[in-house]
Amino acid sequence: MSTAAPDPFGKAFMAYYRGEKVSCTIRRDDDLVDEDNMEGYFQGYDEWFDVEKKALQWVKGRVLDVGCGVGRHALWLQERGFTVTGIDVSPLALEVARLRGVRDCRLMDVRELDFPPSSFETVIMMGNNFGLAGNTEATKKMLKKFHEITTEEGGIIAESRNPLETDNPRHLAYHEKNRRMGRPPGQVTIRLEFKGEIGPWFDLLLATPEEMAEMAEASGWQIREIYKDESGRWRGLYAAILTKNEKRLR
Ligand SMILES: C[S@@+](CC[C@H](N)C(=O)[O-])C[C@H]1O[C@@H](n2cnc3c(N)ncnc32)[C@H](O)[C@@H]1O
Repeated sequence: MSTAAPDPFGKAFMAYYRGEKVSCTIRRDDDLVDEDNMEGYFQGYDEWFDVEKKALQWVKGRVLDVGCGVGRHALWLQERGFTVTGIDVSPLALEVARLRGVRDCRLMDVRELDFPPSSFETVIMMGNNFGLAGNTEATKKMLKKFHEITTEEGGIIAESRNPLETDNPRHLAYHEKNRRMGRPPGQVTIRLEFKGEIGPWFDLLLATPEEMAEMAEASGWQIREIYKDESGRWRGLYAAILTKNEKRLR
């Protein structure tokens, strides 16, 4: 019997890489179920959201790709000459990323970063990954750590989704329940499921731009620019550029 921790996301990534057109189930703790199509994680630059294309113009220097998945951004950046380190908690996601050509990817949790000071000029958190630390306090701690491991001209490119841009009654009820529990409206407790493999429950923080600004300012960062999705394909999607000071230029 295998003693490895369940890795449903990684198994779905690997299945897609091997040619199966699969999706991974995301179950929220109120039993709302969503299917996350793996295809999106393998798409090339032309198919990305405009907010990602605009935000990635801010990349400079050495890059840390947090929650790199199968490496769609890392590969694009590598092709442009950037040195990229990808981290992820899914061993199979990293295996696929390596098979696809990502040169430096490591098994590491963003809540337990292990890099020397001033290791990077840019941290990218793409595909909702700003919320990976899960709650407000953990996010501030993560942002403080990014402050330490980036240079004076360090910057963060963070993608999130404004949870309030919805009229879905299930989401509105979930936000209300969160507020009653003293949590931000967009702190979602979810788990991933793929072909009978079930991951642990974890929290993902979908932050409004105002919440992101507050957490950034409490951790030594400011929001310099926000790109909001105009396509309507993914309501509330935005990418923000966080910098330590005005020295950071594109
Ligand atoms: C939504 S996917 C985004 C992947 C990639 N950034 C993209 O946009 O294609 C989220 C990724 O973050 C990883 N992840 C989840 N929790 C994490 C954590 N605490 N630390 C690092 N990576 C994490 C998952 O395994 C998954 O590969």
